Amino acid sequence: MSHNILITGGSGYLGGSLLARWNEAKLPAYNKLFALVRTPKQAEAVKQYGAEPLAFNAFDEAEVRTAVIDNNITVVYHLIAPRSHESQSYFIKAMAEVKKQTGRDVYFLHTTGAKIFSSHAGAPTDKPLLDNDPKLYEIQKAQQAPLQPMQEAVDTNNFVIDEAEKYGVRSYVFAPCIVYGEGEGFSNRISIQTVAIVRAAEAVKRMYRVDTGRPTWPVCHVRDNTNMYLELMRKILAGENPSYGQNGYYLAASGSVAWDDLYAAMGAALAKRDVVADSAITTANEQDLEAMAKGLGCPAGLVPLMMGGTCTFTADRGSKELGWKPLYKPEHILEYADAEVDFILRNKNWQIGLLALTTYPAPTLHTFTPQLAWYFQAEAGAPPPSPPPPRGLSLGKRDSETTALVA
Ligand SMILES: NC(=O)c1ccc[n+]([C@@H]2O[C@H](COP(=O)([O-])OP(=O)(O)OC[C@H]3O[C@@H](n4cnc5c(N)ncnc54)[C@H](OP(=O)(O)O)[C@@H]3O)[C@@H](O)[C@H]2O)c1
Repeated sequence: MSHNILITGGSGYLGGSLLARWNEAKLPAYNKLFALVRTPKQAEAVKQYGAEPLAFNAFDEAEVRTAVIDNNITVVYHLIAPRSHESQSYFIKAMAEVKKQTGRDVYFLHTTGAKIFSSHAGAPTDKPLLDNDPKLYEIQKAQQAPLQPMQEAVDTNNFVIDEAEKYGVRSYVFAPCIVYGEGEGFSNRISIQTVAIVRAAEAVKRMYRVDTGRPTWPVCHVRDNTNMYLELMRKILAGENPSYGQNGYYLAASGSVAWDDLYAAMGAALAKRDVVADSAITTANEQDLEAMAKGLGCPAGLVPLMMGGTCTFTADRGSKELGWKPLYKPEHILEYADAEVDFILRNKNWQIGLLALTTYPAPTLHTFTPQLAWYFQAEAGAPPPSPPPPRGLSLGKRDSETTALVA
């Protein structure tokens, strides 16, 4: 029996782009490709890629168990909910059962974000942090994030590795970074981070930097990010056993750029379209951050998290182990900034909230979950009335606030 694969997040920017390139990748033989869907429209859309739609609640243990076991799913690419480990835990346990029943190895990929390896999450930033550093697992284990949501996402990376090991599942922690370029999927085609820069600048009619110094961050064109997902899948399907577990971190990045250079390139594109007064970059003070926060729809304390910080996470494993070669150099994001800004502005839908900008055919109203609202209150210094509500997202609720915080 060959592999049955499940992709979650197929309607998203990254998952949609992955599905769009799936067939031309000519992957080694597998039995079936499934895609998790939440609407009849999505169910119809994924069929064009040869994927069989599966509708179930990824946050309900019994539903996950049934979907995974009944369909003998042996490879899961999880592209949703990077912060909590709830859904991941259900998949890992269900896949362990498939392994027991079939005797086959099973593979679980958790999508995290470069932010979890950055200053925002208490990662070391004084030198390059390689994704194939043999100490990376210990480094992540020791990280103390300044913000609770970030600590949760660090803990989730650790949880996935530990839990998968406990259940005999091969795990991968896949880290996208600032991914840019027009997505190729059937639904959301815009990345999150570049949107935050545009939206904050538009709110204050100026491009502000949110850090001191000249911090850098890894970047990746969406095609290259997709290719890394596919090359890893190729190795898994070919039985070549790519590094997993405590050695299974994969950063998809062609290199890094300075935020200042990105602000400058995007600022020039915004100035050209009269969205900001001019292309100058100024360091934001408290008041500026407050104003940007209003535009972004988050507390001022979270603005630097959305569009700044230091991340020295460096990709090495993909090129060495998977033969992954990025098509685009890191500077391409600067050359492409004008097109990126243009695409964002043409598709913007600000009134529905920062973390919800989509290119859905009909704008969908996405709201912050009570849990994130709780964090926002806590961040703002207001005493939260009670502990954050348990996660438990419903099948119909979008998890985009988690997406944006981690990305
Ligand atoms: N884009 C980046 O630059 C970037 C960078 C670093 C990390 N990441 C991480 O990569 C992952 C994918 O990012 P993305 O840019 O593709 O995000 P996205 O465009 O916002 O897509 C999110 C996907 O998750 C699905 N989803 C949300 N809540 C769900 C739930 N409760 N049950 C089932 N599916 C749910 C959405 O389905 P619906 O369409 O039905 O809502 C959509 O398919 C995220 O974890 C994100 O944090 C992204």
